[in-house]
Amino acid sequence: MKNVRIGIIGAKFAGGFHMDVWKTIPGAEVVAVADLEEKARLDFQKKYGIAKIYGDGTELIKDPDIDVVDICVPNFLHAKIAIAAMQGGKHVICEKPFATTMADADKAMEAQVKSGMKFFYAEDWLFAPALQRMETIIKNGGIGDLFFLKGKEVHNGSHSPYAKKIEYCGGGCIIHLACHPVGYFHHLLGMPSKVAGFCSPGGDGNFIHKDFEGEDWGLGILQFPNGAKAQIEGNYITSGGMEDVVEVYGSDGRIRVDITFGGPLSVCSTKGIDYAVEKAEFTHGWTRPAVNENESLGYRNELGHFLSCLKDGTEQMHGTDARSGFNTFRIIDALYRSHREGKTISLD
Ligand SMILES: NC(=O)c1ccc[n+]([C@@H]2O[C@H](COP(=O)([O-])OP(=O)(O)OC[C@H]3O[C@@H](n4cnc5c(N)ncnc54)[C@H](O)[C@@H]3O)[C@@H](O)[C@H]2O)c1
Repeated sequence: MKNVRIGIIGAKFAGGFHMDVWKTIPGAEVVAVADLEEKARLDFQKKYGIAKIYGDGTELIKDPDIDVVDICVPNFLHAKIAIAAMQGGKHVICEKPFATTMADADKAMEAQVKSGMKFFYAEDWLFAPALQRMETIIKNGGIGDLFFLKGKEVHNGSHSPYAKKIEYCGGGCIIHLACHPVGYFHHLLGMPSKVAGFCSPGGDGNFIHKDFEGEDWGLGILQFPNGAKAQIEGNYITSGGMEDVVEVYGSDGRIRVDITFGGPLSVCSTKGIDYAVEKAEFTHGWTRPAVNENESLGYRNELGHFLSCLKDGTEQMHGTDARSGFNTFRIIDALYRSHREGKTISLD
């Protein structure tokens, strides 16, 4: 069977870990990469031996050799590039978030429906092995009926210069980090009926990151039609490495998943080691290094699943289609509105 030919747009952090995973998946062939920065695209080409390079992503999507466009550029370009790609007859894999404005989200949703092209919303938490195991336990009734969920992604601040500007990022740590628990809880429980959000004000009002226009701390409550409630958190005020944690409370028990620090390794080094976990500022003393973040955070399973949907016609997992990305963005948009207007927002 023919390889699936992939074009990656964005050759830095996300583009790099997508590429590291694509290399390991039989049947996946990355034929082109695009990045506005010449050094980024040349370094990527050299490191991975990619045949073709482009500057702007809108050039890559015209390449007739590409079946699927893998969007790893800053948030404000996701909808624009996805729309152009789908209108040009390409399938799309899109990093989170779906869009940065409701107007763009509407247009991307419409373009997907009209074009009929496949859209894969890349929420890696759905594919993290520990969360998949948790989901099986829940589905088998292991902790009874769910009534309260908590989920957070927190670290010390995004490395990307684009994340500092609301125009490019769409907000602060809610859209950039808390999109993970929001997308995951939407996958588990569907659309909440109402939400409330509370954030640090951004800029000078932030706790630590005065140079970020968006919030550096944010919390939200989602209320689901069956009465279940979820608390989501994103923040840039956490030192010591990225923490992704989910807790679920049911009528017959509870589950706690520590996605980033839950591995079997503990290391004590007086000099420090090469790498511990994403965003860790230091690696000396006791650390809990990840064994393989591409596995534990779900990237390997995620891209492997998308490839098998494209190659073998496997049914796309619930929570990864355009509608799920769109709904996740609607919830995030409502959390921000709630914060601005100081009231609970209904999503009925
Ligand atoms: N799922 C996850 O856990 C996860 C983790 C990290 C990043 N992401 C997402 O991946 C995306 C990229 O994040 P990043 O950390 O790699 O950012 P980054 O700043 O490290 O890299 C973005 C790259 O995109 C390039 N770029 C910008 N505009 C472009 C254009 N028009 N055409 C081609 N290239 C262009 C930039 O030059 C830059 O090299 C973001 O949307 C982010 O939310 C997801």
